[in-house]
Amino acid sequence: MKRTLLLFVLLCATTFSAVADKGMWLPSLIASRIKDMKAKGFKLSAEDIYSINQASLKDAVVLFDGGCTGEIVSEEGLLITNHHCGYDAIQALSTVENDYLTNGYWAMSNAEELPCAGLKVHILVRMDEVTERLAAGETREEIIAKAEAEGVGFRAKVESMYYGNQAYLFIYREFSDVRLVGAPPTTIGKFGADNDNWIWPRHTGDFSIFRIYANADNEPAEYSATNRPYKPARHFKISTKGVKEGDFTMIYGFPGNTQEYITSDAVKYIAETSDPTKIELRTQRLDIIGAAQSLSTETRIKYAAKQANIANAWKKWQGEVKGINRLGTYDKKQAYEARFRSENPDKAYILDSLAAAYERNIEGYFNYELYSETLRGIELQQVVYIAADERLSDEERTEALKLFYKDFDVNVDRELAVAMLKAYDNYATAEASMLQSLFEREGGAEAYANWLYDNTKLGNFESFMAADVETDPMTEFAYAATEIKLEAMKYAYRNLSNIPDIERWFRPYVKALMEWDKERAFFPDANLTLRVAYGKVAGYQYADGEYHLPQTTLEGIMQKDNPEIYDYNIPQSLRDVYAAKDYGRWGVELNGKYTVPVCFIATNHTTGGNSGSPVLNGKGELIGVNFDRTWLSTMSDIEFDETLCRNIICDIRYVLFVIDKVGGADWLFEEMGI
Ligand code: ARG
Ligand code: GLU
Repeated sequence: MKRTLLLFVLLCATTFSAVADKGMWLPSLIASRIKDMKAKGFKLSAEDIYSINQASLKDAVVLFDGGCTGEIVSEEGLLITNHHCGYDAIQALSTVENDYLTNGYWAMSNAEELPCAGLKVHILVRMDEVTERLAAGETREEIIAKAEAEGVGFRAKVESMYYGNQAYLFIYREFSDVRLVGAPPTTIGKFGADNDNWIWPRHTGDFSIFRIYANADNEPAEYSATNRPYKPARHFKISTKGVKEGDFTMIYGFPGNTQEYITSDAVKYIAETSDPTKIELRTQRLDIIGAAQSLSTETRIKYAAKQANIANAWKKWQGEVKGINRLGTYDKKQAYEARFRSENPDKAYILDSLAAAYERNIEGYFNYELYSETLRGIELQQVVYIAADERLSDEERTEALKLFYKDFDVNVDRELAVAMLKAYDNYATAEASMLQSLFEREGGAEAYANWLYDNTKLGNFESFMAADVETDPMTEFAYAATEIKLEAMKYAYRNLSNIPDIERWFRPYVKALMEWDKERAFFPDANLTLRVAYGKVAGYQYADGEYHLPQTTLEGIMQKDNPEIYDYNIPQSLRDVYAAKDYGRWGVELNGKYTVPVCFIATNHTTGGNSGSPVLNGKGELIGVNFDRTWLSTMSDIEFDETLCRNIICDIRYVLFVIDKVGGADWLFEEMGI
C-alpha cells in the first residue's frame, strides 16, 4: 500500500514537473526549447524553424497589415490569414452594389485578384541581438539605417526584450502589392460575430486569402500590372489528416502585447481603473454605432470595420477583469513580491522604486488612455489634418479626403462627439484649458458638441470643398484637442509599465527575478515580433460538470443557423451542401456524426497579433489558422492559466471545404498541393 502510494506520488511529480506550455519564444533562440518540444511531439529541428543559412519555416510567415499574422501556402505567394485580419481591405473594396463583406469574393483567375491599396505584408529576413552594439554607443537609428541599406524593400526595427535588458534588430522585406484572392461571406467568415467572439464552442470560418506580388526580380515593389506572384523561399505544406486530442501543435506568428512580469500595482490599475473605464466608454460608442447601423445598409458597411475593432477589445476587457479576479492575480503578485523582498532584502529598494514610479505616472497614463478612447475617436477632426498636411499634393489631398468620407457619416460622428466630449469632461484630470474655455463659451460639453456640428461645414466632401477650413469651428476644436493630445502622447507606450520612468526600474527587477526565481521559464513579453508557441490539442473543463470537447463541426453551424439574425444567417449554398451531405473529400466521422470539421482548440500561449497565425503539426505542416482565445483565456496576457487557457483555431479542412463548396474556387488547390 505504502509502496504504491509512493510510486503514485513519484509519477505525479514527474508528470507535473514537465515543462509547461506557457511562453512565446524567439525563433532564433528556439534551440533552447527544442528538447521540450520534441518530448511533446515535434519532429523537426531548430534549424527547420529558423535559419539564416537555408530556407526555413520563418520564410513562410508574414506580418499581415501591421497587426496580424499570415502564412504562405504556395510557390506562387498565396497567403492565408483571418477574415477579420483581411476585413479592412475587404471592407474598403466593398460598396452597396459590390458588397464583398456580405457576399464574399472569389477570384477565378490571377487576373481577378483585387489590389488592396495600402495593404502591406512583412517577411522576416533575420534577427540579430544588438544589446552590445547599443551598449558600445551605436544608436538605434544607426543600426536601423545600416540594416535597411542591405537590400531592396528592407525595413528594420530594434525591439527591447525583458524591459530593455536585451535588444534585437529585426530586418523585414516589405511587400506592398498584395491582392485579395478570396473571402467567404461574412456569415461564414464572421459567423456569430460579436456574440460568439471570445467564446468556445465556436463555428467561425475566420479566413481570407490574398496573394503577394513582386517585380520581375522577385523583389518588393509598388503595385504594377506587370508584377508577378512572389516566389517565397519556403511555403507551408498543408496536412488534411486532421487532429485529435493530445496532438502536438505549434503557432508561428506575431503576438502583440503581453504583461507577464508586471507588479501588483499594474494589475490593480488594469482591473480596477483602466479596463472598467474603457469598457464603459466603448459601450456608449457601440450603442451609437449599432443603432445607426441597424437603420441603414450604407451605414452598416461604412462602420463595419470600425465597429468590429471597438467591439473586440471591449468584450475582451470584460473577460480579462473577470479572469484577473477569478485567479486572484493581484493577491498572487503581492505574495510573490513579498517573497522577493524577504529573500532579497538588498534588492527590495527596486520594488519601492517601482511603486513610486507608478505613483508618478499612473494619472498621466490614465489621461492618455482616456484621450485615446474619447477625443481621438471624434473622426471629423481628421479632415483638418488632411487639409493642413503640406506633404500632400492637391490630388493626393482630394484622394485622402474621398477615402475619409467614404466611410464616414456626420450624424453618427455628431452623436459620438456629444457622448465622448461629455465623458472626457467627466473623467479627465488633465489641464485642458483650451477645450474647457470652448465648453464654457457654449454652455457646457454637450452644448458645445452640438454647436460644433451645427456650425461646421466640413461634414461631407462637397461642403468641405466649398468651405473655408481655417475659420471652420472644427479647426478650432482640432487645435484644442491637439493641446490635450500632445500631453497625452507623452505616455503613449505599449503598456503602463513601459513608460521609461517605470521601465528603468523594471530592468533591474526582471534581471533580479531571473537570478532569483530559477524555476520560472522566462520568455520575453510579446511585442509584435516573431514568436513560437507550442502545446497540444486539448478540451477543458469549462464549469462544474461541463467539459468542452476540443473540436466543433458543421452540425453546430446548422444548429445556430437563423435566417432572422444577420450574424447567423448562413449562405443558402451551405444549407444545400448540408442537406445533400455533399461533403466530398471533406466529410469525416467526428463527435459521432458524418460531418465536416470546423474549429478546434489547443493549449498554445497566444495573444492579439497571433490572429491568422499558422497552426502546425509535429512535422511543421499547416493544420489550421489561429483566430481567437476562449472566454476563460481573456486574461492570459497578464496571467496564463495552464489548465484553462485555450486558443481557437479554424481547421484547415474547413477552410478548404468553404473554398471548394461555397466559393467554387478549387482552382487554388493545385498550387496548394491539394
Ligand atoms: N477575438 C478575435 C481577436 O481578438 C477576433 C475578433 C474579430 N471578430 C469580431 N467580431 N470583432 O481579434
Ligand atoms: N483575434 C486576435 C487577433 O486579432 C487573436 C486572438 C487573441 O487575442 O488571442 O490577433
